[in-house]
Amino acid sequence: MSSTDDRLAQFDASLPLAEAFTLPGSWYTDPAIAALEQDRVFARSWQLIARTDQVARPGEFVTAEVAGEPILVIRGKDGVLRAFFNVCRHHAAAVLTEPAGCAERLRCPYHGWTYALDGTLKATPEFDGVRHFDRSQHGLVPVQVATWDPFVFVNLAADPPPLMAHLAPMVEQLRPRAIEGMHFVERREYELACNWKVFVDNYLDGGYHIPFLHESLDQVLAFKEYTIENFERVCLQSSPIAPSKVDPTISAVRKGQALYYWVYPNFMVNSYEGYLDTNLVVPLGIDRMKVIFDFYFTDVSEELRALNQQSMDVGQRIQDEDHAICESVQRGLRSRAYQAGRLSVRREAGENLFHRLLAGDLGQREP
Ligand code: FES
Ligand SMILES: [Fe+2]
Repeated sequence: MSSTDDRLAQFDASLPLAEAFTLPGSWYTDPAIAALEQDRVFARSWQLIARTDQVARPGEFVTAEVAGEPILVIRGKDGVLRAFFNVCRHHAAAVLTEPAGCAERLRCPYHGWTYALDGTLKATPEFDGVRHFDRSQHGLVPVQVATWDPFVFVNLAADPPPLMAHLAPMVEQLRPRAIEGMHFVERREYELACNWKVFVDNYLDGGYHIPFLHESLDQVLAFKEYTIENFERVCLQSSPIAPSKVDPTISAVRKGQALYYWVYPNFMVNSYEGYLDTNLVVPLGIDRMKVIFDFYFTDVSEELRALNQQSMDVGQRIQDEDHAICESVQRGLRSRAYQAGRLSVRREAGENLFHRLLAGDLGQREP
């Protein structure tokens, strides 16, 4: 048995929550596990790649890395949204090099091979005399793409389950909050020196850390009424908001029922009344990651500009507190003193769902 198989065998996904352990520390520190995750988790799940408004018009595109692969999503002249590997069929250069923009056609910057917006190869300079070369077989390689209101997702698997099945029941449950009418305001990105799973674990601990780490948030969340609900690949954490007596800046921007959705493996949707932010957790190596926050508001009028800014700043403060603790955890996970931890039955069912799903995917044999 290889050492990776050894490591995978160290986690028992069949234990009930009251007997369960966390993932072994080595899963957060072994580069072989990170490589396996790219292949079996990120390349086989729906991944957020763009906002629908970025690719609304023909020719508009977004490029991004998904599961360590260069991917592009683009609206065709026929109005159809498509995604491709952003890899030229000649010698593999990235065909589109801008993060976003609008293109008439897709011309590779290396030797000028040119593709139509639907991926078909149209021009190959100085290629006369090349035998057994069928241009129609050298289009960009397509990737599955689907949208949910403001969000565009891709899946590198050939035949994935439908996006809506992956997101269920979140989409239905969020319908009353009219997400389709919300306006994107700002993106903020943070890099952390920890494994991506540390960040997800922290998110999924059922509010366990809130009274200790987030004093300000603790004043408005009704900690005792905090609920945790697991679905197939989604966990919903929810709490009523109580007005803060201590810090009115928080209660001014956090209203209604707080709904915190996590979608396996690395996507979060946080919703308050009139407010939404998404978090996309991107691994950059075994002990480095990036989290991308996108902020949306129902009302983006001038009168509310200051309040919306304040709302994003509250998010930033909480993120800063999480940042330091996640890096502290990563250092501890490397310690010879730590193998795996136990889970609170009251609080940490979401974390356990994450660990079981991940272990299931990693343990899957190649078809
Ligand atoms: S690599 Fe794209 S044209 Fe040569
Ligand atoms: Fe937190």
